[in-house]
Amino acid sequence: MKILVATEKPFAPVAVEGIREIIQGAGFGFELLEKYTDKNSLIEVVSQADGVIIRSDIIDRQVIEAAGKLKIVVRAGAGYDNVDLEAASEKGICVMNTPGQNANAVAELAMGMMVYAVRNMFNGTSGTELKGKALGIHAYGNVGRNVARIAKGFGMEIYAYDPYCKPEVIERDGVKVLTSVEDLYKKCQIVSLHIPATEETSKSINADLLGRMPKNAVLVNTARKEVIDETSLMMLMENRIDFKYITDIMPAADAKFAEKFAGRYYSTPKKMGAQTAEANINAGIAAAKQIVDFFKEGNQTFRVNP
Ligand code: 3PG
Repeated sequence: MKILVATEKPFAPVAVEGIREIIQGAGFGFELLEKYTDKNSLIEVVSQADGVIIRSDIIDRQVIEAAGKLKIVVRAGAGYDNVDLEAASEKGICVMNTPGQNANAVAELAMGMMVYAVRNMFNGTSGTELKGKALGIHAYGNVGRNVARIAKGFGMEIYAYDPYCKPEVIERDGVKVLTSVEDLYKKCQIVSLHIPATEETSKSINADLLGRMPKNAVLVNTARKEVIDETSLMMLMENRIDFKYITDIMPAADAKFAEKFAGRYYSTPKKMGAQTAEANINAGIAAAKQIVDFFKEGNQTFRVNP
């Protein structure tokens, strides 16, 4: 039995060692493919693997078709939009994620990005504080909840919109529930995105929504670039010189955004929300244990494909 860890963006070494110990401790073979630059290298090793642990690595139909022995893919993280679930299901491959394991890391980065925005990107000019500001959490999943917990410490007024989350779950955290997405954007000077990339959310964050935000609006995106309607956001930022966009997922039009909106646009060069030793250990170890339990006990908890 061979388990492959295929991570174009590597885990912290301490997490890799933890994964290796669990896999080898269970009597399975362990293989590591890090920082690969072309799909063919992934295809080559995946063809020999029974199970694979990935991060944002693309597991599309071509990769799945080349993976003759593969029984399970575990995405060490939350979003599994990088895996072709239909192709996996057709081949009887189980796909799992590790929900919640890297949520604190992403939430801490979102808060850091808010501070960075309201302090004018640390350029030495006088900024503002987060205390007392209205924060809108768009989707109240694991990351959204952690953002709420930390934002409370900053003394922010916190609102959330999530039609898939019971209002009492949100209220229990002392967060105000809004039942319309428009109201969230109308009410909140700062909005933090935590929606997954799906057909429903694709390009759903557009000028119609963002244009409702109050003066000195800040949009923080630690979710996915696909949820943003980039053309529409760019048009809005041209008209609203008070609007800032801070993202952990580089837009396709990054160079244009950087050129047009210097001082109110920032993107990390590579997605780094989950890039902490702690998150890597949490998600990586959970993934390794899920693979072992899958093969040894048939446990399919956290399966995401039909
Ligand atoms: C996730 O969906 O878990 C985050 O976007 C983290 O992705 P990464 O593992 O590629 O950093």
